[in-house]
Amino acid sequence: MENIEKNAPVMPLMEQKAAGEREGLPIAVMDSGVGGLCVLREIRRQLPREELLYFGDSANAPYGERSKEELCPLILSHAERLLTEAKALVLACNTATALVAEELRARHPDVPIIGMEPALKPAVSVKEDPRVLVLATEVTLREGKFAALLKKYAKVAHVVPICAPGIVRMVEEGAQSSPRMRSYLQELLAPHLSKGVDAVVLGCSHFPFAKGAISHTVGGDIPIFDGVEGTARQLNRRLGAAGLLNPSPTRGAVRLTSSLPRMLPHYARLLFGDGY
Ligand code: DGL
Repeated sequence: MENIEKNAPVMPLMEQKAAGEREGLPIAVMDSGVGGLCVLREIRRQLPREELLYFGDSANAPYGERSKEELCPLILSHAERLLTEAKALVLACNTATALVAEELRARHPDVPIIGMEPALKPAVSVKEDPRVLVLATEVTLREGKFAALLKKYAKVAHVVPICAPGIVRMVEEGAQSSPRMRSYLQELLAPHLSKGVDAVVLGCSHFPFAKGAISHTVGGDIPIFDGVEGTARQLNRRLGAAGLLNPSPTRGAVRLTSSLPRMLPHYARLLFGDGY
């Protein structure tokens, strides 16, 4: 495990600046690796004037296979460091959200901290009593946040949680459209597909990059939901409500950073290229 720093709460830069000086600060977006880049891409689309600072912890990915005891201090240390530079933080990672979002919000009640959770709400409305597959990491699926979601929708849908660590690994490697990905998905999903599927939820920010392969496996007519657009919308709303939207007339810059710098060209390809 690399990069564990002190994770004590810091004074976020936002709280040190006077009103009027905060709007131009960057928005920090973080994930275990490349997954959050799909969220960053959507934030750029919805909020083009914002300065954006991305951090991917590729040196420690996948998060979903590590223990909570290992992950919480690690993620908190990254989040606290980013908050020394940013006006808001997006946990573009379902796993990190499940583990530390509440703690971070309690530490920094005045800073917009946006998280992600599996987008079950639209998926359960595709028809009456649908069978919905939720693909996510092991950590996301075993945390209390997901148990609460399951409970909420138990009466209106049959929800099938499926842990899919192989997708995370292959997306990190750039193998999101590979034959290896297709055979992995086929093996993972075939037993569930034979029972019928009405919708699929991508409960991990790495998975939208493999959406083509997932759709090919489950069938092109099955709706697939992710939280990407909703997360950017929620950020937009929270910044607006806090008076923190950047009024700059020009397009904001994007800074990509990683705990594994050799991954940065891959980050850039996924963000600016046709990584989907
Ligand atoms: N992208 C992350 C998520 O949304 C974590 C994937 C991982 O590192 O296991 O859950």
